[in-house]
Amino acid sequence: MQEIYKDFSRPVSERVQDILSKMTIEEKIGQMMQISFANVSREEAEEWVTKRFAGSFLHTLGEDSRWLQDLASQTRLSIPIIFGIDAIHGHALYNGATVFPSQLAMSCSWNEKLVEEAGRVTAREVAADGLHWTFSPVLCIGRDLRWGRINETFGEDPYLIGIFAAAIIRGYQGKSLSDSDSILACAKHYLGYGESTGGRDSYDTQASIRKVREVFLPPFREAVKAGCATFMAGYQSIDGTPVSASKKLLRDILKEELGFKGFVVTDWNNTGSLIINQKVCGNMADASRKAIEAGNDMIMSTNEFYDAAVELVKTGVVSEALVDEAVRRILSIKFAMGLFEKKNTTSKSHAFACPEHIETNLKLTRESIVLLKNENNTLPLGSNVKNIAVIGPNADCIKAQFGDWTFFSHPVPNPDAIPKIPVHTMLKGIEELSSSKGIHVFYHKGCDIMNAAEESIAEAVNCASAADVVIAVVGDCLDQNGEGKDRADLNISGAQQKLLEKLRSCGKPLIVVLVNGKPLSVPWIAQNADAVIETFNSGMLGGKALAEVLFGEVNPSGKLTISFPYHSGQLPVYYNLLPGWHGNKYMDMPEKPLYPFGYGLSYTSFKYSNLILSKTRCSASDTIVASVDVTNIGKLDGKEIVQLYANDVVSSVVTPIKELKGFKKVEIKAGETKTVQIPLEISQLAICNENEQYVVEPGEFLIMVGPDSRDEMLLKASLTVE
Ligand code: NOJ
Repeated sequence: MQEIYKDFSRPVSERVQDILSKMTIEEKIGQMMQISFANVSREEAEEWVTKRFAGSFLHTLGEDSRWLQDLASQTRLSIPIIFGIDAIHGHALYNGATVFPSQLAMSCSWNEKLVEEAGRVTAREVAADGLHWTFSPVLCIGRDLRWGRINETFGEDPYLIGIFAAAIIRGYQGKSLSDSDSILACAKHYLGYGESTGGRDSYDTQASIRKVREVFLPPFREAVKAGCATFMAGYQSIDGTPVSASKKLLRDILKEELGFKGFVVTDWNNTGSLIINQKVCGNMADASRKAIEAGNDMIMSTNEFYDAAVELVKTGVVSEALVDEAVRRILSIKFAMGLFEKKNTTSKSHAFACPEHIETNLKLTRESIVLLKNENNTLPLGSNVKNIAVIGPNADCIKAQFGDWTFFSHPVPNPDAIPKIPVHTMLKGIEELSSSKGIHVFYHKGCDIMNAAEESIAEAVNCASAADVVIAVVGDCLDQNGEGKDRADLNISGAQQKLLEKLRSCGKPLIVVLVNGKPLSVPWIAQNADAVIETFNSGMLGGKALAEVLFGEVNPSGKLTISFPYHSGQLPVYYNLLPGWHGNKYMDMPEKPLYPFGYGLSYTSFKYSNLILSKTRCSASDTIVASVDVTNIGKLDGKEIVQLYANDVVSSVVTPIKELKGFKKVEIKAGETKTVQIPLEISQLAICNENEQYVVEPGEFLIMVGPDSRDEMLLKASLTVE
């Protein structure tokens, strides 16, 4: 008779129960292991599968995963391996797959539909490679811009991050986990990782439980609601307790309170770090016990956990029931994905960067670009432009444009890799479109980003002098972004500032294009350039989309999801600050950010009027609608991102000066007025009070609607909650 666990017509819970009852302690602990393929030899990898029944590997690509899966199918219970990869903005560790804009760049589209589609495309390409799971999305709040991983975030706003979290999770996981092109999403890094001390990666996050709940938890709550199958516990401690050792955060809040049903994986060697770095445990037995008791289900890359955990269960120090719970969560997902039934498929490489995927990527890349300045309508470029000088270290640098988590950097750094798919650097995009218009393009790199030598600047300036307009492409590079690459100084580095000053002195219109992982402090550029365009890490089609914007074939419609500082000493500059007494300012620095959250220009202009709330008195269970008239008063059709903010006028704890609670991206034709309606559930106005309870406190709220987060740009209406 067929064993229950092999019978796919049975419910998942029965199959899990059946197989669990057959498993030895060693087989159970094996399921909790995630082995880094790049850090073991092939012989060791084979042993991990055949002798210790490892449940998961990370960072394998196609052929290797097929080999390991074959080995697993020959073990006693034939439990399939689950393969995880950092497909953070496309399946980009694989050279040949679609490379999307970074999470930060894509968030500037404020287009959740396109973000969902990007997730779908990534899922198809990851699945086509025989892998099951992406360690994405990053739901950290990008608050300290010195942090090296800001590029991986969806920006600084908890609400917006939650919207994109749900969208990309829907995209990754598709309609059903059992579909052949669905992959598991992983909400990370749970939680508070983006605000570790001094912006230093993996240090302690100094936050009260109230702040944890009010600021860091909301996007993760949205991830649970969206059915996210896995969570990753971050490296950091919060108020001295490492997340991986925190029963309160993992079991009590995530699993109990939020009802998360999937499994939790640690981040890289978190269990070992409890001993080596964070020093809350003296040895591996203690660290393994803590990790299990706190509620980590799968252990990433702490291979010593295996022996220690087997021993802990055999000696009764850790109850087998706790291990069963972890393994149950992991196996439930394996069954739900249909892994036990799936044939070991060959690579479907025709999916990689196929025309349909490129099209989705192009749409998203276009909408991710943010126009920050456009003095005297410098842009779009007019028919008078016959010669363009493209100057700068990031003009023709696909590595800087791709950003982190691609085959250049992971799993093993390969800075000299050559992309196997056609890519558009900024230069290539400009050249292609210019040549179709009979415009000449001169190019010079000008200088380096990591080196202050100025020798080649003079030649670059010569090149610029021969042109009608100068497009300077500057920013940062891969060495300045990523894990362990936090920066104290957010100025543009190398000789870039000198280059820009020399280019400015040529007297030609100066358009600055920023290619950078995260906001830099660029007050000189904001002041002196005629036009400024932010592209962040725009991926393989950045240059194509940029050129379309420069020539006006695309009207820019992105807006910042993160604030820009004047200076790194001004940090933090996020918009949803708690108010202070003295206007929140420094005596030597403006109190406002250089560019605020929600800000971005278009080649047309929009006028806001008539803010009306469907109700001005309501109860905590109501949903109201804010409607506003938005008129396109320019000559071009365009898209506008209408934003709704709220402020709790009097509250029992100090609450932010304003917080985003809704938005709509709308297309409005030149001359047209659209009445834009944004729903607001009053429950969204809840705060976390002193007793850790979420409550909507009765009283007055200010509802503000407009084009960005600046006070002076917002229409205001009063709402009373009874
Ligand atoms: C460490 C990183 O913090 C995490 O984001 C990533 O998913 C894992 N390593 C696996 O590469």
